[in-house]
Amino acid sequence: MRLQSQLWLLFSGLFLIVGFTVYMFVSTMYEQRIKEGYEQLSMTQGASILDQLKSTYPHSQNRSIGYLRRYSEQLEIRLIMLDDDNTVYADSFQQLEEGTALNLAILNKNNFSGSYFTETDSFGYVQYTLIPFETIHRDGSLLMIQEANELYGELTTFRSWMVQTLMIALIFFFVISYFVSNWFTRPIRQIISRMKKITPHTRAFSMKYRSRDEIKELIDATQNMVEELNRYDERQRRFLSTSSHELKTPLTTMQFIIENLPYVRENQELHHEFLQDLTFQVKKMKEMVGQLLQINRIWDQKLQRELINSEDIQEYLLQSFQQISLEKGITIVFELEQIEFVVDRALFLHGIENLLSNAIRYSAEEKTVIVRIKRNNDQMKISVCDHGIGISSEDLPHIFEPFYRSNDATAWNQEGTGLGLAIVKQMVELHKGTIQIDTVQNEGTCFHLILPDS
Ligand SMILES: Nc1ncnc2c1ncn2[C@@H]1O[C@H](COP(=O)(O)OP(=O)(O)OP(=O)(O)O)[C@@H](O)[C@H]1O
Ligand SMILES: [Mg+2]
Repeated sequence: MRLQSQLWLLFSGLFLIVGFTVYMFVSTMYEQRIKEGYEQLSMTQGASILDQLKSTYPHSQNRSIGYLRRYSEQLEIRLIMLDDDNTVYADSFQQLEEGTALNLAILNKNNFSGSYFTETDSFGYVQYTLIPFETIHRDGSLLMIQEANELYGELTTFRSWMVQTLMIALIFFFVISYFVSNWFTRPIRQIISRMKKITPHTRAFSMKYRSRDEIKELIDATQNMVEELNRYDERQRRFLSTSSHELKTPLTTMQFIIENLPYVRENQELHHEFLQDLTFQVKKMKEMVGQLLQINRIWDQKLQRELINSEDIQEYLLQSFQQISLEKGITIVFELEQIEFVVDRALFLHGIENLLSNAIRYSAEEKTVIVRIKRNNDQMKISVCDHGIGISSEDLPHIFEPFYRSNDATAWNQEGTGLGLAIVKQMVELHKGTIQIDTVQNEGTCFHLILPDS
């Protein structure tokens, strides 16, 4: 069911419940008030009749009957005087014999004084009013019986008036709530229609909305999502064109070498140099394709989290870099706090490997590289610091982009695809961590990875 219809039904349902409650409350109150009015009238009439009757009770029954008949005709009420044991003493209609015991609900209530309304088969609604009295001789009570159809007629008229009013209000509210729910859901329908217009070719979303509410948040979030998608698309496109361009460069070189190889066959030295170049380009391409595959695979694979400690990291890095650090005379210093944490072991070690490889690659010979691991509350901080060429402020915003290599780096070291830090960034993002960099050109660089312990 559409949201608009749901809201419409909800509003109308709520109104129906509220309307019914109001109806019940008002009609009950009205019934009570009107009954109280009838009761008060009967009690006043009864009290003035009793003033006369008390003088004749219990010694002059005939006079009592006379009085009762007179009042009964005047007021159109049947009046019955009862003895203290609730038996008839005198009846204005002279139908009940003296001493007749009456079986009425009102008489069964102890010390009751007031009116009681009930529906009877022969007279319709009837009002019974009982007023106890005392004389110096004996106690008794006056029972007044009168028709109350008029009262119930009044009540029925009032109730039907109320039902009619509520029905008109309900219809009115039904119409109003239709427009209100329509007005409420309009922005959502607009959002949907604009979203439906988004295609791979026209990926744009904009909508004017003034209030600062959840709808505004939804519009902003959708706008951000579309922009993010566009940025992602742009990044993908750039990544693809850069990748193909980067792959084309060694391919062109290889093509050139292969085409010219037959012509240098006589020249042993040149021939050897050509073959070495060819091997270098193949190696570089293989590395590049490997890294590219990894970058694409990382996002799809699920993190295999497991426990790792500082010593594991040290052992792995020593194994991987012993040879190259010896060749370059670089000293790797480990400053480790003995800590354990949970990460995707392979991914994490590959990231740190990339950082240490950079630190060694972009440092001069005989320099020192420091790997520091420590715990900061429930985060762990891994720092890889070198005394190398540093990174200029122009290069710094780009170093995590795939294939980005600074001119300094290319001049310093021909090797490298420019994909290492892109992998590091992916790894850190997957672990919900952050990267900080301190760098001074020609002095050195520190990469700090801050990962939450999970
Ligand atoms: N420790 C460092 N000192 C100086 N420059 C650095 C350092 N680490 C990274 N850079 C700069 O960032 C660029 C990107 O680094 P990245 O590791 O992504 O690629 P790369 O080292 O050139 O190639 P590879 O993909 O083989 O790692 C480098 O080319 C270099 O310009
Ligand atoms: Mg690198």
